[in-house]
Amino acid sequence: MRIRKVVFPVGGLGTRFYPITKAIPKEMLCIIDKPLIHYAFEEALAAGIEQFIFITRQGKNSIEDYFDHLLTCSDEFKSGNCSFCYVRQSEPLGLGHAVLCAKHLVGDEPFAVISADDYVAHEKSCIGEMIKNYSGANMAAVMTVPHRDVSKYGIVDVETETDELVTARSVDEKPSTDQARSNLAIVGRYLLNPAIFDVLQHLKPGVKNEIQLTDALLKMIPTTGLTGFKIKGKRFDCGSREGLLSAILHVSTGNRKLAGIIKKFREDI
Ligand code: G1P
Repeated sequence: MRIRKVVFPVGGLGTRFYPITKAIPKEMLCIIDKPLIHYAFEEALAAGIEQFIFITRQGKNSIEDYFDHLLTCSDEFKSGNCSFCYVRQSEPLGLGHAVLCAKHLVGDEPFAVISADDYVAHEKSCIGEMIKNYSGANMAAVMTVPHRDVSKYGIVDVETETDELVTARSVDEKPSTDQARSNLAIVGRYLLNPAIFDVLQHLKPGVKNEIQLTDALLKMIPTTGLTGFKIKGKRFDCGSREGLLSAILHVSTGNRKLAGIIKKFREDI
């Protein structure tokens, strides 16, 4: 199925990275020389996506400046196939609310959502692989996490499973360790049926008093279904110091020159 549009929710406060994120959006934190949002953009571009919708807010203008620069310096983007739109999310009311802010730009077609702070390192575009498997049900990228971490994630209760996909019976946003029905967690990649906008519009705030995308996915299971796509490659939670550092080391070790620097550094300590 053709997916033409992606939503990047970039309105989060990035509290885990204070104080730097008081002045710089977390999506502009770098893995070596490119900001996280650039990696998310490349993943979407490689999947054939043409319209990039950023849900932004106060203090996030450097993201727009960054893509303006990219547009003027690259022939690929000048050709006119890509378009960039920015929507302001006036208050950080949650991921579900951020997605709802894109309603008027997405219209009545399935669309992708990528959280830039979830960096997935793999030779193939993760969202591109999801699109290949997409058949109209809501889809979320999933991976197993240590049981002690389940309360950081949306957790999927699996009904059926193949090597690549799971069918969800249920999904819970940030359950406690004793209430979690599995340790299969949603990571920041989604393909959504446009019917989700109506559900989000009528949703009451959930965990953290925010409009949760997971709650909308749960409501739609009886009608639209929810498929989990088991991600391939390595995922890094770059919204945390440990995750960002690990991603930097991962990318560096794949680069001959940088890998040499790491090797020398380790020998010297
Ligand atoms: C969000 C989603 C959660 C998901 C997570 C993945 O949570 O609400 O379901 O598992 O992203 O990174 P957040 O990390 O924004 O609190």
